[in-house]
Amino acid sequence: MVEKRTHMSETIPTADRLPLLGSALEVGRDPFRFLERAPAEYGPVFRVSIPGLSFVCYTDAELVERVLAAESDRYRKDPRELDLLGDLLGEGLLTARGEIWERGREHVQPAFYPGRLLEYGEEMLDRTGDELERWEDGHRIDVHEAATRLTLSIVATTMFGVEDVEETDAIADAADAITSRFEPSRVPMEIPLWVPTPANRRYRRATDDLDDVIEAILRRRRESGGETDADDRPDLCSALLTAGESGALSDAEIRDHLVTMLLAGHETTAIALTYTLGLLASHPDERERVLEEVRAPAELTPRTELPHTDRAIREALRLYPPTYMLYRETATTDTVAGYEISEGTRVCLSQWAVHRNDRYYDDPLEFRPGRWTPEMRESLPEYAYFPFGGGPRQCIGRRFALLELRLCLARILRSVRIESVPETELTPTPALTSRPDGPVPVRVRR
Ligand code: HEM
Repeated sequence: MVEKRTHMSETIPTADRLPLLGSALEVGRDPFRFLERAPAEYGPVFRVSIPGLSFVCYTDAELVERVLAAESDRYRKDPRELDLLGDLLGEGLLTARGEIWERGREHVQPAFYPGRLLEYGEEMLDRTGDELERWEDGHRIDVHEAATRLTLSIVATTMFGVEDVEETDAIADAADAITSRFEPSRVPMEIPLWVPTPANRRYRRATDDLDDVIEAILRRRRESGGETDADDRPDLCSALLTAGESGALSDAEIRDHLVTMLLAGHETTAIALTYTLGLLASHPDERERVLEEVRAPAELTPRTELPHTDRAIREALRLYPPTYMLYRETATTDTVAGYEISEGTRVCLSQWAVHRNDRYYDDPLEFRPGRWTPEMRESLPEYAYFPFGGGPRQCIGRRFALLELRLCLARILRSVRIESVPETELTPTPALTSRPDGPVPVRVRR
């Protein structure tokens, strides 16, 4: 009898010629459309192999769980991510591995304790109030620009403890230059940092400025050390400084953690807020439900429960996940869905592909917050929804981000109605995140 064997890796369906989509370059330019269709065409495991882009994609919730959680030892973070971001983020949590990562996570965690989050919540509400002062009745605003400004000021005040406007501006410039550096280039290939393109030069200058600002913040915090309530309820800076004083973290590691929080914590949340507001603007019924809910309580606090609002956020993160692809590399050979995936293979898990798969969601392209009933959540495989990743490397800022989204959205909709205009379009770009490819205009009504 012929022994049943696993397929060799050559037999993994390969999406190199794409009859539906035209040239391979298009996959690089519009991975979103590709990711939406590929699972139906190629099955739960397929290879993408085009110049500058080669990986095996898993689009089945159980396989996502396997990589991120159940068998996470078999998959390490992709070394390419380290090449791309290592210069900037050093030994911060996104890029660190092994023992350094474990230690880092331990030192950063206190900044996200629940009591501390509620205090950040007050700050989130205040900063949103400040932002709303710029929004005038009848005006059009670019909701992406506004959300970026807002989430940045929230990170600066909560994580860095910065109140100085000039410092916040320097942080904003740096964040902007850093994200422009990772704009998708015309071909799916990154230009190395040493090539003096304008974006690279700006990036270098901005990271130098950012380092100066961080140094100034740390110096100030060290000088005023004893007077803060750091020991009871540390913010990120004080948690890190405490670890520094005991010799557990070096100055360079402290800097890396701060820059990582800035990069990981602000753009993702800005995008989520942009898409949630954009979706509500163009779905008036859903907007009115949320609006009614957030306007009902006499006072809005970080503890106010807002189930409709949470569902709208949950649904926006499903349809427009800010992180749309995660990469890993096999540390040992693994066998999935009958295919042998050899050691050293780059593996991609795409939120976009899974969250928009009709195996898991009815009418997956519809924005329908009401779909998130308790019964539906009960029957949905856990990893059919993973905007924050999962397993040991799950987003450390998950609860922070969800609180921020809820409070910003609620505070905004208590004051204004936002309406779509003909140009309100949500078109993601395939950058590091799925941010919109330009302004997202909406009309403000007081
Ligand atoms: C809607 C907003 C956010 C989304 C969608 C998001 C998404 C993610 C995802 C998918 C990962 C896992 C990456 C991987 O497994 O390769 C991650 C990791 C991380 N996120 Fe977030 N994030 C958000 C907000 C935040 C915030 C607000 C912070 C900090 C204030 C933050 C800090 C981090 C850090 C430090 C990591 C690395 C964790 C580790 O490897 O130990 N994120 N995030």
